[in-house]
Amino acid sequence: MRQQVAAANWKMNLTITQAEELLNNLLQQSKQLSDHQKVVFAVPFPYLALAQSKVNSHPNYFVAAQNCSEKKSGAYTGETSVEMIHSLGVEYVVLGHSERREYFSESNALLAQKVDMALSYGLTPIFCCGEPLNIREAGTQNSFVEKQLKESLFHLSAEQLAKIVIAYEPIWAIGTGKTATADQAQEMHQHLRAVLAAQYGKETAGIVPILYGGSVKGSNAKEIFSKPDVDGGLVGGASLVAADFTQIIDALK
Ligand code: 13P
Repeated sequence: MRQQVAAANWKMNLTITQAEELLNNLLQQSKQLSDHQKVVFAVPFPYLALAQSKVNSHPNYFVAAQNCSEKKSGAYTGETSVEMIHSLGVEYVVLGHSERREYFSESNALLAQKVDMALSYGLTPIFCCGEPLNIREAGTQNSFVEKQLKESLFHLSAEQLAKIVIAYEPIWAIGTGKTATADQAQEMHQHLRAVLAAQYGKETAGIVPILYGGSVKGSNAKEIFSKPDVDGGLVGGASLVAADFTQIIDALK
């Protein structure tokens, strides 16, 4: 079975004390996961080492950075390199979140460089894509999201693409409480898998997990994850509440 992933995106939230408390809570309640099920905590940079030390003793639990530099190293004040992230034992990095695209002007071309840098250190990119409301209202969401994938990922070999996790996050559903319906998520995920298949073949497209993100909660996760092309979720607000995120982990196929 394809990997199923419950990924927490804490964004810019929590103090170190709150972060430790949340991780302790979640890991204490952690149940035995199947081999194909994974939990990933995308925490702020200052908490990466702490989070990594905590998940080390929990199989199938991982940590992600929320961003990385496209540069290898050097005089880039305030930036964090993939080498630094990798040196902590962290295995994932979230790339291309809509908040980074919007507030930090990250382009598809820049993201292609970040994807390459992450892969060169063996990190798994959780590559985010998704359309704004006006595009959804115009009905052109499929081609919009397709372009994001093509311009940031299609230079990869099939072997490299097989290492990527995609997260489809419609911007109008992020932090709004307005989730896409399970059918809307399935429709887009199916489309994206077909786009991957056209470029890389059915087998490779069938390996890539596609997560849904946007107002996933304990109460709606099961229905959304039940769809055949939805392989888990990338969760913001509800990942900050232990009881809610535990329910989301339990909803993995
Ligand atoms: P919410 O779950 O708060 O809508 O955020 C989704 C998200 O942006 C995860 O990356």
